[in-house]
Amino acid sequence: MKHTKVKDLLNSTNTIDEVSVKGWVRTFRNNQFIALNDGSVIHNIQCVVDFENTPEETLKRITTGAAVALKGSLVESQGKGQTYEIKVSHIEILGDSDPEKFPMQPKKHSLEFLRENAHLRTRTNLFGAIMRVRSVLSFAIHQYFQEKGFVYVNTPIITGSDAEGAGEMFKVTALPFDNTPRTEEGKVDYKEDFFGKETNLTVSGQLEAETYAMSLGQVYTFGPTFRAENSNTSRHLAEFWMVEPEVAFNDLDANMDLAEDFIQYVIKYAMERCEDDLKFLDERLAAEEKQKPQNERSEMGLLEKLQFVLENNFKRVSYTEAIDILKNSKPNKNKKFNYIIEEWGADLQSEHERYLVEKHFKSPVILFDYPAKIKAFYMRLNDDNKTVRAMDILFPGIGEIVGGSQREERLDVLQQKIADLGIDEEELWWYMDTRRFGTAVHSGFGLGFERLVLFVTGMSNIRDVIPFPRTPQNAEF
Ligand code: 4AD
Ligand code: MG
Repeated sequence: MKHTKVKDLLNSTNTIDEVSVKGWVRTFRNNQFIALNDGSVIHNIQCVVDFENTPEETLKRITTGAAVALKGSLVESQGKGQTYEIKVSHIEILGDSDPEKFPMQPKKHSLEFLRENAHLRTRTNLFGAIMRVRSVLSFAIHQYFQEKGFVYVNTPIITGSDAEGAGEMFKVTALPFDNTPRTEEGKVDYKEDFFGKETNLTVSGQLEAETYAMSLGQVYTFGPTFRAENSNTSRHLAEFWMVEPEVAFNDLDANMDLAEDFIQYVIKYAMERCEDDLKFLDERLAAEEKQKPQNERSEMGLLEKLQFVLENNFKRVSYTEAIDILKNSKPNKNKKFNYIIEEWGADLQSEHERYLVEKHFKSPVILFDYPAKIKAFYMRLNDDNKTVRAMDILFPGIGEIVGGSQREERLDVLQQKIADLGIDEEELWWYMDTRRFGTAVHSGFGLGFERLVLFVTGMSNIRDVIPFPRTPQNAEF
């Protein structure tokens, strides 16, 4: 007999004479009640064991963490808390779990402890919920772009280009560390390396995606990206997933419209399909907020916050306006910011972004038209010659969730910018070709997938929304 998922059993509208179920024991109470979970849904199914007619040997092996296969009937529950339960007639222990050693005890563990046990943490309600929401969000992303006729492009993971020009790249090499081949000047001779040139793990698929947008019109990438930035924060990973749409003939306004519509769509999608998980996460966050002093508590619950994003337009504010707001803000005047905003041109730190979103506008914000100096080379220069058509989307509790821009489509302007930055044009010959042959206005953005998952799940550390986080000094599993 094929086993049925716990989710389907709990959704049943009638009793069933014969069912089979497989899963992991969460708890075993009074030698009688197994709370069984199989990952299909946050809820456990209660399985009632006829302990008087079950060998002592078997009962002893029903421990937290053990894998079991149960047969019996789905009956209306006598007890509180569930409509249906399984009256067990046959028990098979598939895999024992030593209760003395199994780390996921039925009690509250710290998130740090769970990170150290990332291979087992999805045995908890919390991580089951987070990872199901992550999965649904990831599908929603494809659904959104596919419905709109975008082409999904798999951009390379190993590349020779530094898309962001920030130099935070992991090198890819097959050269030996000892006896490294050297040029006459004593530099590493990459001609001898696997690819015959210097290569790295991609920091963004944008440049390659641009070439596809300039032929297929609307494209998106969704894949892993890598940054060797030594930022040990709750918002940064060394390996994270990024969604990058790129659209020919879109200007910055159309780019903002797309980003806003896209984010609202995927959040709505998850809200409709992850009701139980989000309800659980909403309650978890509420309980956590209660521990905080009153003035630090967030004004909205998780579900309220998600609903708010669906119902309200993102505020669109120029960098220049934002600087004025920040300069005149209380924390700036009282020197409460770590970085005091003194003049136009300053790069915004996450404390400033969060002030704008959480204190000033109390809404998601799209900042645009940043100083050219603090943004990447490919962004389109405005007529003022000092700002570029950049946009960052800032979210409450998250800070920057999206970075994007209208791209510089004019060959001569792009060449000048590249030269000014000391980038070798030869390295980007293929990128420059899109401006040589049939160039046109185009725009795109990158959304950090884990930051989206953070927002939707209400978690506060990015290490808790990706299965096996990679961060400085940590690549376990
Ligand atoms: O702002 P970024 O660096 O933009 C780009 O890479 C562009 N090429 C995107 C584009 O226009 N196609 O990164 C985009 C987003 C950020 O807004 C942030 O959400 C996320 O990627 N991000 C990170 N997420 C986790 N860990 C990190 N270290 C991240 N760095 C950026
Ligand atoms: Mg950015």
